[in-house]
Amino acid sequence: MAGVVVVGSMWGDEGKGKVTDYLAQKADIVVRYVGGNNAGHTIVYDGKKFALKLIPSGIFSGHEVIMGNGMVVNPKAFLEEVKYLNDAGIDTSRIRVSDRCHVILPYHLEIDELQEKRKGDKSIGTTKRGIGPAYTDKYSRIGIRMGEFVDEELFLEKLNETFPLKVMEYPELADLFTIEGIYNEYKEYAKKIKPLVCDTGILLDEYLREDKKVLFEGAQGAMLDIDYGTYPYVTSSHPGANGVSEGAGIGPLYIKEAIGIIKAYTTRVGEGPFPTELFDETGDFIREQGHEYGTVTKRPRRTGWFDAVVVNQSRRMSSLTGVSLMLLDVLSGLDTIKICSAYKYKGEIIHGLPSTVKGVEEVEPIYEEMPGWEEDITNVQSFAELPVNCQNYIRRIEELIHCPVVMFSVGPDRKQTVVLRDIEF
Ligand code: IMP
Repeated sequence: MAGVVVVGSMWGDEGKGKVTDYLAQKADIVVRYVGGNNAGHTIVYDGKKFALKLIPSGIFSGHEVIMGNGMVVNPKAFLEEVKYLNDAGIDTSRIRVSDRCHVILPYHLEIDELQEKRKGDKSIGTTKRGIGPAYTDKYSRIGIRMGEFVDEELFLEKLNETFPLKVMEYPELADLFTIEGIYNEYKEYAKKIKPLVCDTGILLDEYLREDKKVLFEGAQGAMLDIDYGTYPYVTSSHPGANGVSEGAGIGPLYIKEAIGIIKAYTTRVGEGPFPTELFDETGDFIREQGHEYGTVTKRPRRTGWFDAVVVNQSRRMSSLTGVSLMLLDVLSGLDTIKICSAYKYKGEIIHGLPSTVKGVEEVEPIYEEMPGWEEDITNVQSFAELPVNCQNYIRRIEELIHCPVVMFSVGPDRKQTVVLRDIEF
């Protein structure tokens, strides 16, 4: 009964797609358990680059893929992604969608937009995909679940209950949508999705009891966790391994390994505190070398030094058993590399993030400086081939985060991944 989970362990965009793709080769089933089409996973398949937002990247390996109850699914975006894959010759009949995941409807996107506007300079910088508003409805117990959505009568009944409540909160919605308009458009999407919908918790339990190898694919990053991220500059779910039970409908004891994906530096998109952020030419260098622009929104990502406090927080939340260190090649050419090992806060040394945004904004990173390396490492195939300074950098990261580096990556190609310890299901 073995599940392996791959989770982003910074603020998202760490390169999970590549590791998921690698592990998916060994898995029988791939499951996504959190988020919606706010995620952006880039996968290179058959020499072509694909960007997926909703459907688990295991789809490329021909596996059954499950979209768990913890997700919020925009039916229109989902069907567009299905078409995108079908047009490329990829079979999507093996997708299973949980009957308990919540549906994102067009008013959720509008609410996302309105909320951001109303917040003014305190806006979160969301992806405007309606994620927060859909989770809000879920927890307010007025959301529409997939099982209801694909039942024409129930869908209309639920819309009639929910939409007027939303209009009370956001009167602007009345000018933009009618129940009839939403119903007529979306019931057509529901018909197409219906054959894929089932109780994925039962399915998954059966597979795990049959000793099938299940890969859980995280989305976003642990620092966007609704409780342990930099609240309120977070997403509305639990992207780490801590979200698997909740979002896939199985207990935590099925998880054998939790692999954290980290970059050799740090990035963030959207607003919110970022202690090791760089505003100088080193930050620009990292952004350009690493092509740090958002997959979903194309926004330039904020860049900064590696922050061991952040990764330690992710390790704790997800019980990480190993990390995969991505984009190591991006740092080649820097004279000196800094690592943040702790923070100074109100005159004391601390090793965790303060719970308040104000606190995280006030921390002062404590840096260790290490000599960089000049060599091009993009063709390296083993740890021993790395320049000594690069080896030392990896070893120091392992010490600071209390977790072994089990893989590292020196370029976008599959061949540019070096595995130091095999991950077995
Ligand atoms: P939301 O998930 O669209 O509500 O956005 C909330 C915050 O999470 C914003 O700062 C987004 O930029 C960030 N975010 C959401 N999804 C991702 C992702 O897949 N990668 C990186 N950041 C993300």
